[in-house]
Amino acid sequence: MTGIDPTTTGTSEAGISETGTSDEVVRAHAEQQFADELTALRNVDDRPRPPRWAMSPWAVSTYLLGGELRDGTVITPKYIGSRRLIEIAVASLATDRALLLLGVPGTAKSWVSEHLAAAVSGDSTLVVQGTAGTSEETIRYGWNYASLLAHGPSADALVPGPVMRAMQSGAIARIEELTRIPADVQDSLITILSEKTLPVPELDTEVQARRGFNVIATANNRDKGVNDLSSALRRRFTTVVLPLPDSLADEVDIVTRRVTSLGASLDLPADLESLSEISRVVTVMRELRSGLTADGRTTIKSPSSTLSTAEAISVVTSGLSLAAHFGDGVVGADDVAAGLLGAVVKDPVQDAVVWDEYLETVVRGREGWDDLYRACRDLGPAPMGRA
Ligand SMILES: Nc1ncnc2c1ncn2[C@@H]1O[C@H](COP(=O)(O)OP(=O)(O)OP(=O)(O)O)[C@@H](O)[C@H]1O
Ligand SMILES: [Mg+2]
Repeated sequence: MTGIDPTTTGTSEAGISETGTSDEVVRAHAEQQFADELTALRNVDDRPRPPRWAMSPWAVSTYLLGGELRDGTVITPKYIGSRRLIEIAVASLATDRALLLLGVPGTAKSWVSEHLAAAVSGDSTLVVQGTAGTSEETIRYGWNYASLLAHGPSADALVPGPVMRAMQSGAIARIEELTRIPADVQDSLITILSEKTLPVPELDTEVQARRGFNVIATANNRDKGVNDLSSALRRRFTTVVLPLPDSLADEVDIVTRRVTSLGASLDLPADLESLSEISRVVTVMRELRSGLTADGRTTIKSPSSTLSTAEAISVVTSGLSLAAHFGDGVVGADDVAAGLLGAVVKDPVQDAVVWDEYLETVVRGREGWDDLYRACRDLGPAPMGRA
């Protein structure tokens, strides 16, 4: 699957072919969407590449962090944040240590993982989505039962999972939400990561990983009911913690870029001029998240919901859709109010109290925020009534 044609999606194991150009699909893979940037980077890149890497570690980090190439091509930043974190992540992938991206929800773990795999292997699709029901077969291999019954175990009847395919082709496998996977299934990764082999006892054989193989796992450290990694497994990963953005300006920058690109892919007119509402949305998120107003003067209660950058992105995107279809195209307080309420009030009782208090003590008196206060109040009392 490496070197995937940017205009088509693959043919599935079952032979179901789903072809489509990247502007026909709802969401193109990173390597399809940014095919031009990846090609430009590969063309100028003359630094040493680890075995089977599509580009050098320098080019991978430039792809993630953005920059301008010798030939004038502009690489858009995918991750906005610390350069060092991305360098540590890329350097780890170039060794035999796997990479674990850890952080609270919405800190771009999956996003970074997808772009890293796209840059390093040219293929971000070898992914296992971790759930409480993920079985060992999903990680390793399964069987085509018709063939197994008819001919017994054979290489033809074996259906390799994403990790096995990555081992065979020397590519990056991604494991999403590693800590949601039951502990015994997680542990099946230990042999893969330390011995770099995957035994197939049924065929009395094994698959040895080709050079270039590595694993990027993501896990979120906020979820309840997760299965913590055993120390044996944790030792095999370099852990990189992706933080929430440091400053208001950084967070506004992230939201602006993502909303602009989401708006473009949804054919919503995203005019940067009209996105001044972003800074208010991000301010509300940051204040409620930290429990302190931006001027550091007033402490407030935090809601139970996670208010990450990802929530700010979706509040503004839905505001953009409202403004484009039912308003004058300019995102205003009315368009983001409902989104804010929905993002903040996840628990209809406790969060409604927090939101109410925040509106009264912070939003109401703030200069220039009257319209936002009114728009939020016009939505009526928060669900379950005001306490
Ligand atoms: N620092 C950042 N730079 C660029 N984009 C960011 C940043 N932080 C968040 N985002 C954006 O936030 C969105 C959500 O990110 P993503 O889904 O990768 O989060 P996650 O950490 O995997 O969350 P979860 O734990 O819920 O799976 C993405 O669209 C991403 O672009
Ligand atoms: Mg994720």
